[in-house]
Amino acid sequence: MNHESQRYLTKDGIRLYEPGDFAGMHAAGRLTAQILDEVAVHVFPGQTTGAIDDFIRNRVEELNAVSATIGYKGYQHASCISVNHVVCHGIPGDKKLKDGDILNIDVTTIVDGWYGDSSRMYVAGTLSRKAERLIEVTHDALMLGIEAVKPGNTFGDIGYAIQSYVEAQRMSVVRDFCGHGLGRVFHAPPNVLHYGRPGTGPVLEEGMFFTIEPMVNLGRAETKVLADDWTAVTRDKSLSAQFEHSVGVTADGVEIFTLSPAGTFHPTY
Ligand code: MF3
Ligand code: CO
Ligand code: CO
Repeated sequence: MNHESQRYLTKDGIRLYEPGDFAGMHAAGRLTAQILDEVAVHVFPGQTTGAIDDFIRNRVEELNAVSATIGYKGYQHASCISVNHVVCHGIPGDKKLKDGDILNIDVTTIVDGWYGDSSRMYVAGTLSRKAERLIEVTHDALMLGIEAVKPGNTFGDIGYAIQSYVEAQRMSVVRDFCGHGLGRVFHAPPNVLHYGRPGTGPVLEEGMFFTIEPMVNLGRAETKVLADDWTAVTRDKSLSAQFEHSVGVTADGVEIFTLSPAGTFHPTY
């Protein structure tokens, strides 16, 4: 390792960005969040997930941004849309949404080389009580994880905040997928686990940029990936939900880069 890289990589290989880099992440995060705001009116029974993805693809282009997912490891779409028991990486297509379906829409854009990665839950038509509870718990779990972000805390503190809350609600945290460092790249160290023990894992330092994106299941935590090599589903077919923010560690806490300009991150607001 040379002296140059030692200055901005921690011993865990986590990049420390400069104070001036927050503005780039803010712009990318805001654009992603704006598209997630706008897409809400396109979610309704009878709509296809492919049509939702077309809207997202067009908006990314109209806003002079670039989709991070089109071409990523062969992925062909501007979003992942994960319906009901799909945990993540659902592929948009011509299947129509049904009344009561819940779905996660995950969008990552690149603005001036900076990555903004966020996802939220949406509902087609009428929300069932059990789906509402799942969505509520998943949202609150993410926000509790974010509350644990400040210099001196550890990544284990984030995972513990999420896991302890979710399991107290008798739901389960998915172990097979995690959050990730990002910034000038889509996926970088560390793996941000949504479970863990307090005080374990790398120490959070000012200038770290990463996502927190817990997936929560009403049933068991186990997942499997379908034959398309992308779609991850719950093994027990139970409902799954996810929320994702991109965040940066500040001198005394956290900045959420992907806050909703319309204030509609939480679907029932
Ligand atoms: N946006 C996803 C994440 O949160 C990654 C999607 S990669 C794709 O990390 F290729 F499936 F789009
Ligand atoms: Co992500
Ligand atoms: Co994402």
